[in-house]
Amino acid sequence: MKRVDDFRLKFGKQELVPIMIGGMGVDISTAELALEAARLGGVGHISDAMLPTVSDRRYDTDFVKTKLQQYKYNIDNSNKAEVKFDLGHIAESTRLHVSKTMEAKRGSGMIFINCMEKLTMNAPKETLKVRLWEALSAGIDGITLAAGLHLGSFALIEDHPRFRDVKLGIIVSSLRALQLFLRKNARTHRLPDYIVVEGPLAGGHLGFGLDDWMKYDLRTITNEIIQYLRDEKLDIPVIPAGGIFTGSDAVAFLEEGAAAVQVATRFTVAEECGLPADVQQEYFKASENDIEVNATSPTGYPMRMLKNSPSIGSGIRPGCESYGYLLDANGHCDYIDSYNREVALQPEAKKIQVFDKTCLCTHMRNFKCWTCGHYTYRLKDTTRKATDGKYQILTAEHIFKDYQYSTDNKIALPDA
Ligand SMILES: Cc1cc2nc3c(=O)[nH]c(=O)nc-3n(C[C@H](O)[C@H](O)[C@H](O)COP(=O)(O)O)c2cc1C
Repeated sequence: MKRVDDFRLKFGKQELVPIMIGGMGVDISTAELALEAARLGGVGHISDAMLPTVSDRRYDTDFVKTKLQQYKYNIDNSNKAEVKFDLGHIAESTRLHVSKTMEAKRGSGMIFINCMEKLTMNAPKETLKVRLWEALSAGIDGITLAAGLHLGSFALIEDHPRFRDVKLGIIVSSLRALQLFLRKNARTHRLPDYIVVEGPLAGGHLGFGLDDWMKYDLRTITNEIIQYLRDEKLDIPVIPAGGIFTGSDAVAFLEEGAAAVQVATRFTVAEECGLPADVQQEYFKASENDIEVNATSPTGYPMRMLKNSPSIGSGIRPGCESYGYLLDANGHCDYIDSYNREVALQPEAKKIQVFDKTCLCTHMRNFKCWTCGHYTYRLKDTTRKATDGKYQILTAEHIFKDYQYSTDNKIALPDA
């Protein structure tokens, strides 16, 4: 019987354990988590979501305070068109986070950064270019293009000296999205080095409809993409993601031609994960009925989360003057409309509730939007419960090695 460790992810001459820990913004997939994956010979991700605030927290900068001071005058204005990011701040925070992470890297694995196109930041092209460019300059091993079609993303960095050496990958949820990506980026004469196929059971935002995600399955989409690449004689590693919960789940994909797997949910309860300890207990406690896919994200993508996420129903004032990562090219975010509608309906209320959309920047930043994968309800089976009712937090190494060596769908419990 095969184990994940019987396979290797190959990038040219480099061979890696075929386990990739997916990017989890905002700083849920921390540098510490990514570093463990790399130390153990796999691939870890940091995330480039909201790096100015991540940098303030980690490296004692004051990007958020500075931005808020600059735009304070606009807080009560629902038009956020003037609330622009300082490109220098984005560059500096990206450089800080990436270079500090890369300096700490040990072992034979790699560290990639997850870069979401949906973070349009009130100037989509300009801000995305800075994020990608600076990550390359600061020495990242690879960039995973996420949450968007990224039809113009390669072009933004084609003049960077590392463009042809760094690993570049794309996350897709359909063959159609992949074909579109390949067609639109063909002009740069550079193929992606890997393709992550994300199915409907993943955490975070989903590349499927709110009402039809359950009709799709990861195996079918993955096999379709593997077949297409074979037919086109394109030798690009395919990496399925979403609901791969045990080593045996992973082996099944590797035997069918996947080059590696991308996993995340199991690592949300790792010591090195950025989620606060009390939130990790909520993830452990969740039953299947406690998890939903809803439309509260203002990005327009459905998102899976725990139903008791504090973000749901929260009617906080839009935090765009401090954050504003989801403002589109016209300085607009759907949450602003929802918030204003509720304020207009209850002008006397001290505290209002908003259920249809959420202020995702503020809540993700504060770990109040508890996004999670479909199988979060199985996390309790991956650890021990103490007499005080608390579940034992795991080390990333324990989870990683469980994926790497387990057979028979078994999950190794940690030492008590
Ligand atoms: C808490 C959490 C946050 C996530 N955030 C992101 C993100 O910021 N960007 C992204 O591309 N994917 C994100 N994902 C998706 C993961 O990177 C990964 O592809 C997926 O969850 C794998 O499925 P699994 O969680 O069932 O193992 C997130 C997943 C989780 C569980």
